[in-house]
Amino acid sequence: MADAGTNVTLCGWLQRSRDLGGMTFLDLRDKYGITQVVFNMESNAALCTQARALGREFVLQITGTVAERSNKNPKMLTGDVEITAQSITVLNESKIPPFTIEDETDGGEELRMKYRYLDLRRNIVSKNLRLRHKMAQQTRVYLDGEGFTEIETPVLIKSTPEGARDFVVPSRMNQGEFYALPQSPQTFKQLLMVAGMERYYQMVKCFRDEDLRADRQPEFTQIDCEMSFVRQEDVLNMFEGLAKHLFKSVLNIEMNEFPRMTFDEAMRLYGNDKPDLRFEMKFTELNSIVKGCGFKVFDDAELIIGITAPGCAEYTRKQLDELTEFVKRPQIGASGLVYAKYQQDGHIKSTVDKFYTPEQLKVWAETMNAKPGDLILILAGEKNKIRKALSELRLEMGTRLGLRDRNKYIALWVTDFPLVEWNEEGKRWHAMHHPFTSPKPEDVPLLDKDPGAVRANAYDMVINGVEIGGGSIRIHNKELQGKMFEVLGFTKEQAQSQFGFLMNAFEYGAPPHGGVAFGFDRWCAMFGGSDSIRDYIAFPKNNSGRDVMIDAPSDISEEQLKELGIRIVQPE
Ligand code: AMO
Repeated sequence: MADAGTNVTLCGWLQRSRDLGGMTFLDLRDKYGITQVVFNMESNAALCTQARALGREFVLQITGTVAERSNKNPKMLTGDVEITAQSITVLNESKIPPFTIEDETDGGEELRMKYRYLDLRRNIVSKNLRLRHKMAQQTRVYLDGEGFTEIETPVLIKSTPEGARDFVVPSRMNQGEFYALPQSPQTFKQLLMVAGMERYYQMVKCFRDEDLRADRQPEFTQIDCEMSFVRQEDVLNMFEGLAKHLFKSVLNIEMNEFPRMTFDEAMRLYGNDKPDLRFEMKFTELNSIVKGCGFKVFDDAELIIGITAPGCAEYTRKQLDELTEFVKRPQIGASGLVYAKYQQDGHIKSTVDKFYTPEQLKVWAETMNAKPGDLILILAGEKNKIRKALSELRLEMGTRLGLRDRNKYIALWVTDFPLVEWNEEGKRWHAMHHPFTSPKPEDVPLLDKDPGAVRANAYDMVINGVEIGGGSIRIHNKELQGKMFEVLGFTKEQAQSQFGFLMNAFEYGAPPHGGVAFGFDRWCAMFGGSDSIRDYIAFPKNNSGRDVMIDAPSDISEEQLKELGIRIVQPE
């Protein structure tokens, strides 16, 4: 033991004390972990008595000598040694904390959020911030090495009607007018390309007033990037490089080349534009072999699709009922589930035996690559709805079968997204990504005739079924940008007043450009093995968008309101 006998001074918080009569043990916590400090009644009664009186979370400075522990704790970084104390200084006292500050805590979510600074004392939480730091640092190492310049863009900008709702900020100096917080620095990074910066990036806060979920926060961080004089392939290669660098430098994982899959293929095979490729279970279309046999549900359906769950033929009635209930939940929306068990004896037993002969069921099994012991699960209905439902069932089966291993990472690029999608509520086309995304040149003639069929030069990076980032090659031509706004239902005047600054810039020699933005919080959560990005943000908001620690949002004074020229109208 190299350090044994060395004199040391440690500063930290008292996590726990144990009094065993002749001996007292304190667990002292600092950013490196927990160190056991020993006090001996026989050799120093006064010090031991002082140690016994200390409360949890007191801030201490302890001097002593390092000794080898008789009962080593291999789970702790500092578990091989203990400190024989010579003196204690109480740097500060502490009230009894509202929950135990240990990996296993008795504090509920809301309480821990209120006292987030105490929650962050728990290694299980603070290690997430250290992971985040490492990822940010390695992102900068890679992008700097590739000649990117980090440039800050403004936070008080102009409200635009794209994407989610804006958070707005009233202007005192321009009463009745508002800034908006950026949903992303999209237009600014494009202007930086017009400005000749060529390779830009920024670790940037973005703000979106949208409904929150485990993978969404109202303020979150992007790794935002843009490049000039590039084609799609250049951007994909550059940022596949970033991803591989992060995997290697942070997780020590060598990633293979990322496969590419078109949006159409992803929807056809997985019913999802962010497929989880850690497991197979691809969709099989069954229309041609199941229609016309008198089973009305299939006969009337636009699409009949199925998956094969390996080794699940033994599922009990209860388990199958659970799956049926699962697909019938309103969020999933299927009207029912058809299943067929391919038994070990070669017999296929289905819920629709009345309509199909054993030979026909064998054809199903062959088409779906099912083997004895497998379970076939089939949904039927309207194309988009049923693909979405089967995608959920596929993920559920993947989870049930333990195929979504958190320590296995499969990444891919999804490409060729549709440029626009129809919004039934607003009765107009919406940009699927954003209005600055360029259409594929060969699809431009379709912009007038059939906007829904136009494919975009847009791409997402997907890892384990999570959209980590997305981007596109941009429009850099004023006329085409004007055309795009027209397709999206903007009048010329609206387009000019909202995006004139960008279209005007395009008249001064805009280079071809494109880029991508990654959800940094999501990426951290994925590397940390969690679904919740909240755990990777130092001071996150709760699901109602509140910071319960500082109690925000909150009222402001009459005086402030007056100064801003704002009158609150109470809702009726
Ligand atoms: P997009 O809107 O796809 O693209 O956002 C990029 C990535 O940001 C992450 N993300 C979020 N993370 C946490 N909370 C949220 N509320 C949230 N919303 C989005 C996702 C997403 O993939 N300007 C374009 C990028 C570009 O074209 O270059 C943009 O913002 O991981």
